[in-house]
Amino acid sequence: MRIVRTVAALREAVGTDPAVPVGLVPTMGAFHAGHLALFRAARAENDVVVASLFVNPAQFRPGEDLARYPRDEARDEALADEAGVDVLFVPSVDEMYPPGFQTWVEVEELSRGLEGAARPGHFRGVATVCLKLFSIVRPRRAYFGQKDAQQAAVVKRLVRDLDLGVEIRVGPIVREEDGLALSSRNVYLDPAERKAAASLSDALRDAARAYAAGERDPVRLRAVLVARLRAEPLADLEYAELVDAATFEKPGTLAVIAARIGKTRLIDNHDLSIPLPG
Ligand code: PAF
Repeated sequence: MRIVRTVAALREAVGTDPAVPVGLVPTMGAFHAGHLALFRAARAENDVVVASLFVNPAQFRPGEDLARYPRDEARDEALADEAGVDVLFVPSVDEMYPPGFQTWVEVEELSRGLEGAARPGHFRGVATVCLKLFSIVRPRRAYFGQKDAQQAAVVKRLVRDLDLGVEIRVGPIVREEDGLALSSRNVYLDPAERKAAASLSDALRDAARAYAAGERDPVRLRAVLVARLRAEPLADLEYAELVDAATFEKPGTLAVIAARIGKTRLIDNHDLSIPLPG
């Protein structure tokens, strides 16, 4: 695996032959099994696999966890190499946002609600860095995780609206045994919080069971989500909604939730028309 830190070195390592399919997995590092599954999916479908490792300051708001976001490049390098990544792109902030940088891209409506409302500017940062990565790497396919469902919808819309010609693949959420969705931020949880964090997937499972039992009223399904999260004393519910997976408009069968467990903000989602095992 080659590790490159500049746009020029990346282009030299990947080449420019459009006949060679390149798969890109954009990441912020702190790899877990969810990332590794995306690397393997990219490996299976492309001749060249590029992973980017860049903790993108533009998608963090002041007061969020940019400074303490988990970083362990040596560990990430070893894991990416094992999972079949050919080129690991690890740019500096200056390489991605050189002095004078002033061009931003915004996916307007999709970025407004839920995560966009809780974290204003977040999706502008995500969309801009993804557009830059697509333009630097020129991938045929790019791989994202379903855990960030709204991000996946934003990126798909970005690609469609700007005719970027990148196929967006969305890998399933990888969960711990008790249902907790894997996230690089799970390392912030202390043991009591870690236990309480399973309340997010418990809530989704309860709602999927209600759906399987015939409940279709989004208000009542939402109430099932809320009840389960309110029953957990360490969970502070931010939102629970049922939305359409593509537009993020209400109502739909994708249940999306965000809650703080202690100081850690977690998100999760599940399509209620599919049972959630556990
Ligand atoms: O999901 C992430 O890790 C980030 O939002 C992404 C897509 C790598 C953009 O910085």
